[in-house]
Amino acid sequence: MDMNTPESPIEWVPNPRAGTIDSSPAVAAAFPDGIFQEVQTFHRQIPGYRPSPLRSLGNLASMLGVGGIWVKDESQRLDLNSFKVLGGSFAIYRFIKAKLGLEDQALSFDELVSESTKAKLGDLTFATATDGNHGRGVAWGASKLNCKAVIYVHKDTSIARIEAIESYGAEVHVIDGTYDDAVHQASVDAEANGWQIISDTSWEGYTDIPRWVMQGYTTMLSETQEQLAGTGIIKPTHVFMQAGVGSLAAATAGFYSSRFGADRPTTVVVEPTKAECLLHSAKVGDGRPHNVGGDLNTIMAGLACGEPNPIAWDVLWDTVDAFTACPDYVAAKGMRVYATPLAGDPFIVSGESGAVTLGALMFLAEFPQFREQKDSIGLGPHSQVLLINSEGNTDPDDFRHVVWEGAASVPREYRWSPEYRAAR
Ligand SMILES: Cc1ncc(COP(=O)(O)O)c(C=O)c1O
Repeated sequence: MDMNTPESPIEWVPNPRAGTIDSSPAVAAAFPDGIFQEVQTFHRQIPGYRPSPLRSLGNLASMLGVGGIWVKDESQRLDLNSFKVLGGSFAIYRFIKAKLGLEDQALSFDELVSESTKAKLGDLTFATATDGNHGRGVAWGASKLNCKAVIYVHKDTSIARIEAIESYGAEVHVIDGTYDDAVHQASVDAEANGWQIISDTSWEGYTDIPRWVMQGYTTMLSETQEQLAGTGIIKPTHVFMQAGVGSLAAATAGFYSSRFGADRPTTVVVEPTKAECLLHSAKVGDGRPHNVGGDLNTIMAGLACGEPNPIAWDVLWDTVDAFTACPDYVAAKGMRVYATPLAGDPFIVSGESGAVTLGALMFLAEFPQFREQKDSIGLGPHSQVLLINSEGNTDPDDFRHVVWEGAASVPREYRWSPEYRAAR
């Protein structure tokens, strides 16, 4: 690439084989019958639980020429600012059930956090690596159980994210490396110290907990379906899903595939260009996950992962219609649009990882250069698009740099022009 040419807003790799799969064994394995209900029943018992809002950006939808834009707004989930706590909490619950030999019995949230459960469990320490949000969820879960938590973060993690984790009494270790290095270090130290890893990514011989984490995210989608039903919409036609290791995307695509089979919505994964391990895996095209290296230095901290979660990948390979990657300015544009809505649309607080799907949708819908890709997924006036605002303001300094001070601005070549609308 010419050094003076800015990076294209969207890199696009279609996955036509997903459209030929009516029922995926990977989906059935990850989401057995009854799991969505079980997950939701658990979360509903957590004090302070309430469904996160599903917001409609109706005026923006008209501007972009689509039928509707629905934003599942996780910016205040259980006061933790991100959806991630849904996964960590369900995984800890299932882990404790298994440890107490109660797999097939009910265990209420009150029983889970009771003194008698604590006495049976003894001293437990939970550990995990995180880019911030998952670690916060695990620290929150451990504090509810009166257990210790040790959380590993990479060297570029902001002080605000570290302090948010520490506020739940967890010990934070900063690793001189990337998120993936933190994952490896956490597992080595946990082995040496007898700690229990609650990871949101899997590896050989360690799949149960990451599967529970992924299942935990589906409460968000069960709620979405209930909320959409209230508007007369049976399901979205399109879902854009941001991805780091891919568990959130696999939970989303897997949920819709499990519920609707071949009638599922069209699905698009969005990653940062600097950490595009799923797009790279799709490009290689051998059906297996592949890593990408480098610094992974994107502003989308939650998506800065170079190694796909293998069990998530298996689901994504069967259920995702297009893998895409976007530079940082696409996420920054999404944040600013959420924060300064069109008159009549709601204001939404969205962090870098939360907002990239809106940025991607806008470039795709409006820019003539993406006409072919837009048409290939049938995006148009009848589309009801679901986006997940996966985080709120999880890093206040960075949030202000982007939203107030215009950091990661859109290059001149990719600024919006009224001619685009005229050409549509
Ligand atoms: C805010 C936010 N959005 C999305 C993701 C992506 O989730 P996953 O790593 O499961 O792909 C993360 C992961 O940490 C996150 O923190």
